[in-house]
Amino acid sequence: MGSGTGNIGQALHEHRFIGVIDGVEGNSEMNAVAEQKNMHRNLIVHFLTPDTPVPLDDASYDVITCCASLSPRSLPASTVLEMVRLLKPGGYIWYTTRDTSQHSIYNSKLNGLIDEMIQSEKVKDIIRRSFSYYTYEVKSENGGTEMFSLPGIERVLKIT
Ligand SMILES: C[S@@+](CC[C@H](N)C(=O)[O-])C[C@H]1O[C@@H](n2cnc3c(N)ncnc32)[C@H](O)[C@@H]1O
Repeated sequence: MGSGTGNIGQALHEHRFIGVIDGVEGNSEMNAVAEQKNMHRNLIVHFLTPDTPVPLDDASYDVITCCASLSPRSLPASTVLEMVRLLKPGGYIWYTTRDTSQHSIYNSKLNGLIDEMIQSEKVKDIIRRSFSYYTYEVKSENGGTEMFSLPGIERVLKIT
């Protein structure tokens, strides 16, 4: 979801994944770059909103990945409900989000939706961990440079 230029598909291929990969991406220009990589079965241009479900069948996927696309002004938090709809029982959601103050309202909404699904036993929490979302060099006060890491969250959910 939010497959962009196909970086995740490419990484999966590089790790010798041999299954079928589809992508859903709202920006046709990003999608055109992904198409050139020839790693996907279908690349669907579709802009997700809470009212525009993905044109794919219920329970049709084993795993859904979403790297860096669940964030304010990108995929709506309700996309996680679409992911659950599209996955087969026993399927997995893997996603990453930023964990910064700018994301706190969005992340609360996302976590609230997930908590409801955990309570109603639609999904199970498998992995929830903090990690360095990305690290970059910044100028320090003493004139040198130092590395700064933006915090992120990696989460894996399993459909029951
Ligand atoms: C930060 S990029 C991440 C792309 C890719 N997952 C990666 O790791 O390289 C976020 C992607 O989500 C897409 N996107 C943002 N909002 C979207 C929406 N509402 N529906 C579909 N795609 C969306 C953007 O066009 C962009 O390609």
